[in-house]
Amino acid sequence: MNSISHDGNRIELRRSLTDSHIDQLVALFQGEWWTKGRIRSDVEKILQSGGPIFAFIDPGDDELIAFARVLTDGVYKAIIFDIIVKSTWRNTGLGGLLMETVMNDSSIVNVTHRELYCLEEMVPFYEKWGFTSSLSGLHFMRKTS
Ligand SMILES: CC(C)(COP(=O)(O)OP(=O)(O)OC[C@H]1O[C@@H](n2cnc3c(N)ncnc32)[C@H](O)[C@@H]1OP(=O)(O)O)[C@@H](O)C(=O)NCCC(=O)NCCS
Repeated sequence: MNSISHDGNRIELRRSLTDSHIDQLVALFQGEWWTKGRIRSDVEKILQSGGPIFAFIDPGDDELIAFARVLTDGVYKAIIFDIIVKSTWRNTGLGGLLMETVMNDSSIVNVTHRELYCLEEMVPFYEKWGFTSSLSGLHFMRKTS
């Protein structure tokens, strides 16, 4: 656990979640369009999959206030998923701090391609960390089970 100073508050970076934090993550997921409907047993599975996770906790009330996770091979590819700041904490720089924390983490800082996908309106946010959507000739493809 690391302590970080943010906007006059002390917050903690946790790399694993307690039962209470998993409950709070499931609740956080219900608020976003792509994570809505996720159930606790599936969330437990993704947390056990071995990818690095990043959870900001407000130690005052043990509240999960921001979350992100990564899947990576440690060399060529790292994909960042589920970047979410709790609605009551948005627009205070926490999302930026989360991105800095993820991008500089030793698990992915030297990986050749750090990737994510997002809606068009989020492109300017991720461009701040050097991401580009100008990937000429590449198509995002998916097969849903
Ligand atoms: C996107 C999100 C993580 C940003 O977190 P935040 O704490 O509100 O962002 P910050 O206060 O750290 O803002 C950092 C910078 O990004 C900018 N920014 C924030 N949201 C933005 C957006 N939607 N589009 C473009 N820029 C944005 C801010 O203006 C700020 O710019 P500045 O440094 O020039 O002042 C947060 O709004 C969120 O959780 N949204 C819902 C979930 C979501 O959509 N996640 C992204 C999925 S791809």
